[in-house]
Amino acid sequence: MKGIVLAGGNGSRLQPVTLVSSKQLAPVYDKPMVYYPLSVLMLAGIDDVLIIARPAEIESFRRLFGDGSRLGMRIDYAAQEEPRGIADAFRVGAGHIEGESCALILGDNLFHGAKLPALLRGSARTLRGCVLFGHQVAEPEHFGVAEIDTKGQLVSIEEKPKHPRSNLAIPGLYFFDHTVSDVAQGLRPSARGELEITDVLRAYMEEGRADLVWLGRGVTWLDAGTHESLLDAGRFVRDAQHRQGTRIGCVEEVAMYMGFITPEACHELGAGMGSSPYGQYVMESAREYRLAPSLANFMEE
Ligand code: TTP
Repeated sequence: MKGIVLAGGNGSRLQPVTLVSSKQLAPVYDKPMVYYPLSVLMLAGIDDVLIIARPAEIESFRRLFGDGSRLGMRIDYAAQEEPRGIADAFRVGAGHIEGESCALILGDNLFHGAKLPALLRGSARTLRGCVLFGHQVAEPEHFGVAEIDTKGQLVSIEEKPKHPRSNLAIPGLYFFDHTVSDVAQGLRPSARGELEITDVLRAYMEEGRADLVWLGRGVTWLDAGTHESLLDAGRFVRDAQHRQGTRIGCVEEVAMYMGFITPEACHELGAGMGSSPYGQYVMESAREYRLAPSLANFMEE
């Protein structure tokens, strides 16, 4: 399965920060925002990722990850000239997908939870069309909302409904089978002029090939698109990391536990940032892994 991190957009709600830099490069506590969605794709087992960004910021992302080989991955970059909508990712990324299945994650979405790796890998394994995820929220009217019937089957998706039919919001993470590029080719811009992800999901739903996976209470989902939510996300990461002594979205550590790189390579990546607590953590996790690989408890099914 291929992966796409969609990290373009205007980021207008975060101006003036986003006038000179990408939202997805803004720090969420101790690392750039894009580390979080990238690590989610990696936890799903994906090692071939396209990062889509504004033309002016492609080089900044490239400086962070290079060609991905440091993480034992392949990472490519593509420019989205204008924010033409989330589903535009499948057009910009058509050459990357190349008729394979594909996971798409929005570059400002952050997920955390012990059950997440197993949920992701299970969903990728059993994919039969598309998978979208449902997350219970207090104010569904601000999100895309899924309606399910009594058997848990997906019935409808509504974008920011005034009268939500459920409290299941749909986060910015989706798995699609190999037909997604074809579906996206047939899309027309919506009334607001964007290629809508809900139209792609609806196309799968009408064929009865859209599955909703409930993330459950054990998984936290945050997005960081406003000054308030960016600060909240940073606080969440700091508090969770301090309490647990482990880091969220640490791509070097995830690459090691996924078997993309060796503990030695992971240690070396940490040493390159050794004067920061982050770099020291990366080195320490490589040392721990060498002593007791079974400590990779966040990978448990
Ligand atoms: P949004 O939060 O909807 O848009 P934005 O990031 O441009 O922010 P604002 O509303 O403040 O202007 O986008 C969600 C994510 O999807 C975010 O990571 C940016 C990305 N995105 C693109 O990369 N290209 C697009 O065309 C759109 C619509 C979004």
